[in-house]
This record gives sequence, C-alpha cells and structure tokens, in this order.
Amino acid sequence: MHHLLADEGCEPFLLDELTRAHPTATHQEDGPRWLTTDAPLDAPLVFSRQVLPNAERLDIASINAWAERLLKAVIDTLPEGQPWRLHLVPCYGQGVAGMNRCELIRSAFRERLQKKRRALLRTLEVTEAPFREDTSLVQLYLTAPDQGILSVAMAPLPFQLRRNLWPFTRGELPVAVDKSAPSRAFAKLVEAEQRLGLSIANGESVVDLGASPGSWSYVALNRGAHVTAVDRSELRDDLMRNRRLIFVQGDAFKFKPEATVDWLICDVIAAPERNMGLLTEWIKEHYARRFIVTIKFKGHAEYAILDQLKAELPALCSEFYLTRLCANKNEACAFGVVG
Ligand SMILES: C[S@@+](CC[C@H](N)C(=O)[O-])C[C@H]1O[C@@H](n2cnc3c(N)ncnc32)[C@H](O)[C@@H]1O
Repeated sequence: MHHLLADEGCEPFLLDELTRAHPTATHQEDGPRWLTTDAPLDAPLVFSRQVLPNAERLDIASINAWAERLLKAVIDTLPEGQPWRLHLVPCYGQGVAGMNRCELIRSAFRERLQKKRRALLRTLEVTEAPFREDTSLVQLYLTAPDQGILSVAMAPLPFQLRRNLWPFTRGELPVAVDKSAPSRAFAKLVEAEQRLGLSIANGESVVDLGASPGSWSYVALNRGAHVTAVDRSELRDDLMRNRRLIFVQGDAFKFKPEATVDWLICDVIAAPERNMGLLTEWIKEHYARRFIVTIKFKGHAEYAILDQLKAELPALCSEFYLTRLCANKNEACAFGVVG
C-alpha cells in the first residue's frame, strides 16, 4: 500500500481526487492527514503533500529498535555506490514534538550503518535538490513516539513519482518572506520555482498576466529578466519605472506575445476554467517555454475541473506539475516545461 500525507484539512478532497482518478482501486483515510491507496502515484495529486510509496505502518517502542529496523530496510534493499536520501521526521503533536526523538534515531542508525555497511554512508545525500534517476529515498515518518510509517523507494521510483514525491520532508517548503515585495503573493512564484527545480534567469523573457501590484514581476526583475506585465491596474511605481519592464494595460485573456517567451507567469483572479483555458492555449500555441499559473477557487465544489488539465497537458509538456503550494490559499498551481 502507498501512504499519502494530505495537505492540512484536505483529506476529503484528496480522497475524492484519488477516487475520480482510479475508481476501481482501494483508497481510504487512515488517521488525521493520512490516506492509503493501491493506485499508481505517477499523475499529479493536487491535495497530497507527500507520498510514501510501498510503505508499512510499524509499532516500535525504543530508539534502538527503530534504528535497527531502519538498518534492516536499508541493508536489505539499497545498492552500494548509488545516491540515496533519508527523510526521518516526526508527524505528530505541535511545534518541535518528536524532533529530538528523530535525531536520536538518526544518530543510532548512522552508528550502526558505520559499523555494518560504511559504503552506504558515503552515498547518503543531504540535499533538497530534485531527484535524479539514480536517487533512492528512504522515508520514516513517526506518527507517534512508538508508531511510524516506513517507505523505501528504490531508484528510479523517486524520479518517476516526482510529481507527487517531493525532495522536501513532508513535501513542505517554508513560505518565503520579503518585506520589499509589493505583496506576499511573491512567495507563490518562489515556491513554484523551487518545486520545479528551475528559476527565472538573467536575460530571460517573461510575460506576467494579472501582474498588479507586481510581486511576481518584482521577482522576475530581480533575477535580471525582461518582463511584459499585463493588468488592468498599474504596478507599484518603482516597477513601472524599471527599464526592463513593459506595462500593457488591458485584458490578460486577450494578450498574445509576438514571439515565444521563456516564461508565462499568471496569477489573474478569474474563474478556474478561464485560467485553465488560457494555460492550455499558451501551451498549444507554444507562446511560452515554461509556465507557472495559479487556478483560483471559490469554495470546494469545483476541484474536479482540474482533472481536465491532468488529462490534457502531460502529453504536451516534458514536465507538468499540478499541486497546492504551501503559499497557496484556495488555489492550485500548474507549472512545468512545454514540449
Ligand atoms: C492576485 S492579483 C495578482 C498579484 C500579482 N501576481 C502580484 O504578485 O502582485 C490578480 C490580478 O489580476 C488582475 N486581473 C483580473 N482579471 C484580469 C483581466 N481580465 N486582465 C488583466 N488583469 C486582470 C487584477 O487586476 C489583479 O491585479
């Protein structure tokens, strides 16, 4: 069984999403935030935060016994000479609950590995970089001091499941803070870039639809990009004066670029089908090479509409992600690479 950590408060939406995608598979809620499924996990799941493929629930009382169990899992399965990562985190209580226990398990595990299979320690990576095809991932999530969920995903599985299996523990990224940005919306763009593993770069061309007051344009300009910002309202004064920014006052849905741009970024407030239609058109017409687009909802009734994107866009993109960002409110974010 695969175990999924739902986004906070999103367990019923994730269950619906799984059921729509795989009506004959077995899915169920399994305690607060957790669901289990036997469905494949390769297509994006918007309301999942992290997935633990082929996982098992364990009841283990002591730190040493946890370390022994981890050692067995690793020694039995991981090949020597290949990179692997360990996500060992608590998932219970508030604040720092369980952190100390996890650190004690980690050091007891490392001590044992040092004695029994030192070569594996040399290929243990500590990084949040995107998974490569040869990366394996071991995840141990403590759900109580003496209970946990253990998953060993052998390469190339983490890479294959990258639309749902994030290189960050619990699938979470801290919401970025920058008091100089025109609004907190900038955190969405920064998070989407981190999840995609690609950032807007110096000299690139960017179209920012629904750009005002300008925090997405602010991020792109700070990176050295050339920005065409489209909105009915002007951006913050300093951005309007920036020589690398062209402001187009008007309707974002009518704007078409003269040539293919490096990035479409779009945060227009509109009905979900309008932003989805805009994204699909931009991808089909090759107006942009890469995209980050938010899809906003009122209430919870319309989430199933996102299934249209999941059905249509992966075939048109070399990378396609659709998820709810930590910085999102009642929104989903589509991002990826065209072609
Ligand atoms: C959430 S705000 C964008 C915030 C922006 N990403 C930022 O970081 O500052 C949404 C924007 O969409 C704009 N908008 C809504 N409908 C639009 C349309 N049809 N054409 C152009 N802009 C539109 C609004 O004027 C508003 O500025």
